[in-house]
Amino acid sequence: MTTNKQVIEWTESQKQEMQTNLLAWYDKEKRLLPWRENKDPYRIWVSEIMLQQTQVATVIPYFHRFLEWFPTITDLAEAPEEKLLKAWEGLGYYSRVRNMQEAAQTMVEKFDGNMPNNLKDLLSLKGIGPYTAGAIASIAFDLPEPAVDGNVMRVYSRLFCIEDDIADPKSRKIFEQKVRETISHDRPGDFNQALMDLGATICTPTSPKIEIDPLKNLYESYKQGRFEDFPVKKKKVKTIPLYYVALAIKNKKNEYLLRKRPSEGLLANMWTFPLIEVTKSEYEKMVADWKNYLLDTKEPTLFDFVAESEEPLLSGVFIEQLDKAHKTVAWQKQPIGEVTHIFSHRKWHMLLAHGFVKENESVKLQENETWAKITDFDDFVFPKPQQKMVAILNNLSNI
Ligand code: ADE
Repeated sequence: MTTNKQVIEWTESQKQEMQTNLLAWYDKEKRLLPWRENKDPYRIWVSEIMLQQTQVATVIPYFHRFLEWFPTITDLAEAPEEKLLKAWEGLGYYSRVRNMQEAAQTMVEKFDGNMPNNLKDLLSLKGIGPYTAGAIASIAFDLPEPAVDGNVMRVYSRLFCIEDDIADPKSRKIFEQKVRETISHDRPGDFNQALMDLGATICTPTSPKIEIDPLKNLYESYKQGRFEDFPVKKKKVKTIPLYYVALAIKNKKNEYLLRKRPSEGLLANMWTFPLIEVTKSEYEKMVADWKNYLLDTKEPTLFDFVAESEEPLLSGVFIEQLDKAHKTVAWQKQPIGEVTHIFSHRKWHMLLAHGFVKENESVKLQENETWAKITDFDDFVFPKPQQKMVAILNNLSNI
C-alpha cells in the first residue's frame, strides 16, 4: 500500500474515543430511515443500491414501492423486465436494477433465495462491490467490515490527513485500512452508518459544521489548521456532450410517436420521442435562431406552424434530416423547449420539436415505434430526459 505522505497513527484510547463519541452522537441524532427499521439483509441491499447515486429523500418512496412490488429476493429474481424498469423509472443508472435482478437470480440458485452472510459470497454477486458488500456485511450481519464511500473518505481524510486522491480508485484501500483500525466491533453497522450520517450532515464537503462535530477533537487536519485542505480530489470525470432534436409528433387521434431504444447500451429498452443526433454547431444555430424568435414573440405555443411555403426556422440541416425520417408532418416554426440531462459520462442537450401529421397523411411506423396518448404514458418506461420533455408538453397544453 502506498501513500503520498506519512499517515497519522492513533493510540488505542484515541480509537476508543472516536467510537464512543461517534456512536453516542448517532444514538441521539441518527436519521430515521425506512431501511433502518430492522436488519433484513434484502432491505439493506435494496437501500444501498438505490443510495449509490441518489439522495436519501429521493430514494425513500422508491424504496417503499420496490419492496411492495418485490417483497422477496425470489420475487425480484422473477420480475418481468418492464416492471423492474418501471420500479426504477427516474432513478437513473438502470444497470443497477438489472444487476440486482441477476444477483437475485444467483441467490435463488445458490443461496436458497437469501443474501449470503459473508463478504466473499456477497462480492461474488453482480453489482455488489466492496462498498455495498461492506455495508451489507456490517449493517445486516454485524461484521466489522469497512464500507468506504465518498462520505467516509472525506471524514477519514480529515481525521488522518490522508492526502491520496479520493477520486482515484486505488486510494480506497488506504481508507479501508484506516476504517478497519478504528471500527467498533460491538456495533460495526451503526459505526458505518454513523459515518455516513456524519458525512452527510456535519462533516460535509462545503461549510462543515466543525463546532458541533462529535469528532472535533480528533481531526488531525483541524489541529494543524488544514481542515479545508481535505479531502484531496484531483481527477475530474470527463462528460461528453451530445446534441439531439427530439421529435414530438402528434397524430389525428392525439397520440404521440414513441420509439423504443435498442436492447443494449445507455437506457436500453426504454422509450423516448424519436431522437435525431445533430452536431454541436447545428444545435447552437438552432438555439440561437430560437432565442431570436422568442425575443420577437411571446411564449412558445403549440399552434405556431410552419406554413407550407415558408422556410422552417429550425434550420435547413435539421429539416433535411427530419424529412428523411417523416415527410408527412407539419412542423412548428420553432422548438417548444430545451432539455438537458447529465448521465455519468454524457450530457444530453435536447431541443424538442413539435409537429402534427398532415391531413390525409400517415406516418409509417417502424418496428420499434408506437403511438400513445399522453394519458397512457404511464404504461411506458421513460428515462429522465423523456420525462422532462413530457413535462414541457403538459405545461404547454395547459396554457
Ligand atoms: N447512504 C448510503 N447508505 C446509507 C445508509 N445506510 N443510510 C443513510 N445514508 C446512506
